[in-house]
Amino acid sequence: MNYRTLITGQILRFSGDPFVTAWEDCVWIETGGLVIEGARIVYVGPDAAKQAHDRHVSYGDALICPGFVDAHVHYPQTGIIASWGKRLIDWLNTYTFPEEMRFGDPGYAKAIAETYLDLVLDNGTTSVASYCTIHPESVDAIFEAGARRNMHVVAGKTCMDRDTAPEGLRDTAQDAYDQSAALLSAWHGVGRAQYAITPRFSPTSTPEQLDALGALWKEHPECLMQTHLSEQVDEIAWVRGLYPAAQDYLDTYEAFGLLGTRGVYGHAIHLEPRERDQLREHGAGLVHCPTSNTFIGSGLFDLAGLGRTGQPMGLATDTGGGSSFSMLRTMAAAYEVAQLRGEAIHAAQLLRLATAGSARVLHAGDQIGSLETGHMADITVLDLASTSAIAQRSERAEDIWEAVFPTLMMGDDRAIRSVWVAGENLRGGT
Ligand code: GUN
Ligand code: ZN
Repeated sequence: MNYRTLITGQILRFSGDPFVTAWEDCVWIETGGLVIEGARIVYVGPDAAKQAHDRHVSYGDALICPGFVDAHVHYPQTGIIASWGKRLIDWLNTYTFPEEMRFGDPGYAKAIAETYLDLVLDNGTTSVASYCTIHPESVDAIFEAGARRNMHVVAGKTCMDRDTAPEGLRDTAQDAYDQSAALLSAWHGVGRAQYAITPRFSPTSTPEQLDALGALWKEHPECLMQTHLSEQVDEIAWVRGLYPAAQDYLDTYEAFGLLGTRGVYGHAIHLEPRERDQLREHGAGLVHCPTSNTFIGSGLFDLAGLGRTGQPMGLATDTGGGSSFSMLRTMAAAYEVAQLRGEAIHAAQLLRLATAGSARVLHAGDQIGSLETGHMADITVLDLASTSAIAQRSERAEDIWEAVFPTLMMGDDRAIRSVWVAGENLRGGT
């Protein structure tokens, strides 16, 4: 038998989708734990301590969670996070595109990829889905950095061939196809790497490029396809001008074969009824990026309304349009944005969105995002009293949700007691 580690603490398990079914379905195990063997979980439940094990790591009354899954980020924007004063299109031109031009240098790409993954691990995030830049080197850099940590990383070359993107940051329809195809065959399924075909968004691609990437996706239906959808009102007007024949923004993807179950659409704030229906019918994934949507001034995503329809949804920081690397800060922003729409999101829904929800939209729910036997041992342990401000509130808690909610609202990297990736302890010690 291989070496087995028993990890004990409090555990919350979700049987259904708390956006659709009652959050009371969640099971709270006050004193339980899990057993990991190699990279995987082999037992979860109240009787963990009775299972055979070689060593025991006790986290006391800390909460053992699945590692957070950040379903939409731009790792190349790490260095320009928190850049002041612009809305989407000006923000891209002023801050983002000049920074992304630097990623043709493999040394620079490697340095930022390493810094980025260290930052997310500090914040309890064990999986990310990242956009890269047009440079294939930028894709190699994040997959190599992910492999060094054995993380489940989804990434793809960001394709842009229209003159709306600056010179120096444009490919062609053919290059986008060829380079994406080469990167896909080099990386997809190697270790934990997952390739995502990545047209940045309709305004920076020609119809020829969207068509080429739609063809590539048809040849590789096993891959994800990630892009942006209906983030800002000005952007939607721009799309209408560039694609006059399209029914709406989603149709600019749909017409080129870029709508499907494995499609992952970031933001999706200002959706038309037809777009909502089509996204739901295809079972496509939407990714809520609340700190970005407030920071860049984009709008208020309809989390509760879409959730009630059963729409697959995940949560993301959208680094560096978002203002934090922390999924705890992101859950707080999701709560606040929903409040502005008159809806209160429950702690169970927030936690689920940041873990199993994101894993589902990345089609990796059988590996990550929940604590289940056979899943990868990607684990984040939360200290529910990490600061005096949080501790004085959580000590009044009358149930587990009241104990957890202050950490979701006020917690940051100080609440991350420990992080495990594929059975290895990478943060916080044992
Ligand atoms: N739309 C197209 N590109 C981007 C990006 O890099 N960040 C955000 N927030 N929206 C985008
Ligand atoms: Zn984005």
